[in-house]
Amino acid sequence: MHHSNHSSHPAVRVTVPGTSANIGPGFDAFGLAFNLYNVFTFKEKDDGKLTIRGVPRKYQGTNNLVYRAMQRVFKRVHYYPKGLYIHTETNVPVSRGLGSSATCIVGGLVGANALCHSPLSQNELFDIAVAMEGHPDNIAPAMFGGLVCSIGAGRHFQYIKKEVADCFAFHLIVPNFELSTKASRAALPDEISRQDGVFNVAHATMTYLALSDGRPDILKNSMKDKLHEPYRKPLIRSFDKVKKTALDFGALGVSISGAGPTILAITRQNNLSPFSEKMQNFLAEAEPQWRYFDLKPENEGTKIEFNVKIN
Ligand code: HSE
Repeated sequence: MHHSNHSSHPAVRVTVPGTSANIGPGFDAFGLAFNLYNVFTFKEKDDGKLTIRGVPRKYQGTNNLVYRAMQRVFKRVHYYPKGLYIHTETNVPVSRGLGSSATCIVGGLVGANALCHSPLSQNELFDIAVAMEGHPDNIAPAMFGGLVCSIGAGRHFQYIKKEVADCFAFHLIVPNFELSTKASRAALPDEISRQDGVFNVAHATMTYLALSDGRPDILKNSMKDKLHEPYRKPLIRSFDKVKKTALDFGALGVSISGAGPTILAITRQNNLSPFSEKMQNFLAEAEPQWRYFDLKPENEGTKIEFNVKIN
């Protein structure tokens, strides 16, 4: 009977939600987790090999972001597995502004920590994740779930998490093209006017509070941005048309999800189905290659399962 090397170590499974950062004015400050997940399975092996599955061949080497995140933990705690098996089940669209890279970073860090019996705290993992990603607004909701705002505090990051009030419904319109965060950030000006800065401070605060306190009357006016949307929207074909249409169909607010190109629309919960139907009919005509999701806020964040059976 054949005994594979896989059988000697228990596998760990880590489920990480996709996220939408910024929600209009909260640029690089806050984001929201959704019930759309990437699932990572990890197992230590004794054969000294790295085996990565579930992703295209070009991501099956040591450049893999999940693997690179794992190495951060192993180096920090001086734990060196002989070999590793990493499987990724990808449900979050890649390079679309839905936090897929944050899921890889969080999945790798949390998975590696679990493989070495959790020497690092969740806050330590959060700090490493933000350092890898460069900004906290996708990382924080991916890790903690909910609507999360973060600030740097010396060498650490602090966050406040709220659950979104249940009077809102969320709709994601996903273009059939990618937009790299790097390219999308390169479109931003280095300086903005004080007027625009003031505008965003108030609108971001009101958006965060409107979502957590359940104030559609406020969200209708607060989900407006002057820091990134005006500069990024030329990179997103059909953005103006989709935004106008979504507002006509009753959206309270429409924004670029993260660095784009996905478009986020928020409606009243009682408008979920009518909006969804009208929007999908519109897209079938206007952009038939695009994808559409009605999603719910995910409030638990990253989940770990130990002793998972794999074949
Ligand atoms: N806040 C970031 C941005 C999110 O808008 O560029 C993308 O990672």
